[in-house]
Amino acid sequence: MQRHPNLIPLSHEHKSLLFVCRYLKTDAAPYEGYPLDTNAKMDYMVKVFQEVMVPHIQKEDHLFEQCRGFFPEMDTMLDELLDEHRVISGMYSALVDSKDLITDMDTLARNLEEHIRKEERVVFEKMQELLPDVLDKLKFD
Ligand SMILES: [Fe+2]
Ligand SMILES: [Fe+2]
Repeated sequence: MQRHPNLIPLSHEHKSLLFVCRYLKTDAAPYEGYPLDTNAKMDYMVKVFQEVMVPHIQKEDHLFEQCRGFFPEMDTMLDELLDEHRVISGMYSALVDSKDLITDMDTLARNLEEHIRKEERVVFEKMQELLPDVLDKLKFD
């Protein structure tokens, strides 16, 4: 299904976040301009989290609030996603005290990747199917 126009900004952000996920994983392929040493990965991740992830989660909080209360199956999915936001944010905060940054960044990346794929493949699709009117009225500001 084609993405609803009001969800396109979130889908764009997912692409940036999926890129950082690929880069943080232990099996990352080398990209021009993205050195694979741990400090470079950490710096890039902090930048992307501050610039993209934090506002992205705020937008999704708003989206989820608007989509809540119509269908129990949707509410259950939204609860799951909110839980995952908490887990992923917790993993991110815990990196400052990490004893094994390489492994912990890899774990964070895999969790975030799975979370985003669920949003894109399952939840956004379901929202478009069940709640087109809510999406039509959606505004992020
Ligand atoms: Fe999310
Ligand atoms: Fe998302």
